[in-house]
Amino acid sequence: MKTTISEVSKYVGQEVTIGAWLANKRSSGKIAFLQLRDGTGFMQGVVVKSEVEEAVFQTAKSLTQESSVYVTGTIQEDNRSPFGFEMQVTKVEVIQAAIDYPITPKEHGTEFLMDNRHLWLRSRRQHAVMKIRNEIVRATYEFFNENGFVKIDPPILTGSSPEGTTELFHTKYFDEDAYLSQSGQLYMEAAAMALGKVFSFGPTFRAEKSKTRRHLIEFWMIEPEMAFYEFEDSLKVQEEYITHIIQSVLKNCALELERLGRDTAKLEKISVPFPRVTYDEAIKFLHEQGFDDIEWGDDFGAPHETAIANHYDQAIFITHYPTKIKPFYMQPAPDRDDVVLCADMIAPEGYGEIIGGSERIHDYELMKQRIEQHQLPLDAYKWYLDLSKYGSVPHSGFGLGLERTVAWISGVEHVRETIPFPRLLNRLYP
Ligand code: 4AD
Ligand code: MG
Repeated sequence: MKTTISEVSKYVGQEVTIGAWLANKRSSGKIAFLQLRDGTGFMQGVVVKSEVEEAVFQTAKSLTQESSVYVTGTIQEDNRSPFGFEMQVTKVEVIQAAIDYPITPKEHGTEFLMDNRHLWLRSRRQHAVMKIRNEIVRATYEFFNENGFVKIDPPILTGSSPEGTTELFHTKYFDEDAYLSQSGQLYMEAAAMALGKVFSFGPTFRAEKSKTRRHLIEFWMIEPEMAFYEFEDSLKVQEEYITHIIQSVLKNCALELERLGRDTAKLEKISVPFPRVTYDEAIKFLHEQGFDDIEWGDDFGAPHETAIANHYDQAIFITHYPTKIKPFYMQPAPDRDDVVLCADMIAPEGYGEIIGGSERIHDYELMKQRIEQHQLPLDAYKWYLDLSKYGSVPHSGFGLGLERTVAWISGVEHVRETIPFPRLLNRLYP
């Protein structure tokens, strides 16, 4: 019977065959412990010299790291391992013997591992992070589907930019100029006017010369947009969404979180409602904490966000940022013109901004004026302006960065480990 490691609990006491790779091995003269992985999981295979044919034991003993094999044996419960099962191996068939696998069990430097990302993905740690990423993706679709949202795919090649023109990837579109999408938002606003509640999930690009643990050049964003939702309505969706993905990962990725050494108590603590702190209050707090490098009107840096989030030890919203440091489309606060109805959701433990969102301007004249003030080409935004011309309604939306969310929930320090093949400032390989 051919099966996978993920399914072995169904075969306790039975003989099965699994296609696998040798992750690691320990052996003595009498017994060999094979650390097997098959993509679905990791499991130990035990080969006892006195219980198998001599040739089988010799093959097992001489297996090299990352050799591919079919192993056959009986599945047994094993209470000592967190996985709970192991195989008493009776047969080993080598598919290919791998020679000199570059990533050995010893410590390697980050650049070396990044150069070997195509192989590094096979490690237990990377396997756990990718499984958690997958669970967040699954829980995202679940949340939005269960809440009446329609998935919409905005274009990747675009002629206009929502988040400012400095970080755009330029390309030629035959004879025209085009840009890789830095956010699908403007298209999602059009879709919300057609379908009510929509969400997108796709790659976005920022030609940003940032080399921090939070920045990727290519990253995946989830962008919900909701017609007739005002500012506070959107915050409620955000905190419920975040709580849903955290609960899903806690429930379905316990093994992976344990493998990563994640302190799950910190995740269990995340609950609605998230504290709401205005930008004004945040600036006052930072001054009280002795940050004299920031004034009203400045954007927060990582240390500022971390100081504020640490104070609450929770995911929080920072709201009502100064109009002048935010994009053109944000709705001004009702009582003052110098701040907008926006919120950044800041994760605890120093993971920083996970979500950026706002209520959108729905007044045609004001929108036109803002596009001009931001010196954006009216031509390229003509279609977008139509939205506030024909049946304009209050609406709100937000964008969640998948990789930063994976980093936070996995407890992984740097976003480069949260995407299979990261595009970084100095890295387009592999
Ligand atoms: O705050 P941002 O730039 O917001 C927007 O793009 C809005 N148009 C979204 C919307 O309202 N529909 O980006 C949203 C999120 C950030 O909070 C962050 O999590 C992530 O996207 N993000 C990045 N992640 C990795 N690398 C980068 N360079 C990122 N830039 C933004
Ligand atoms: Mg932002």
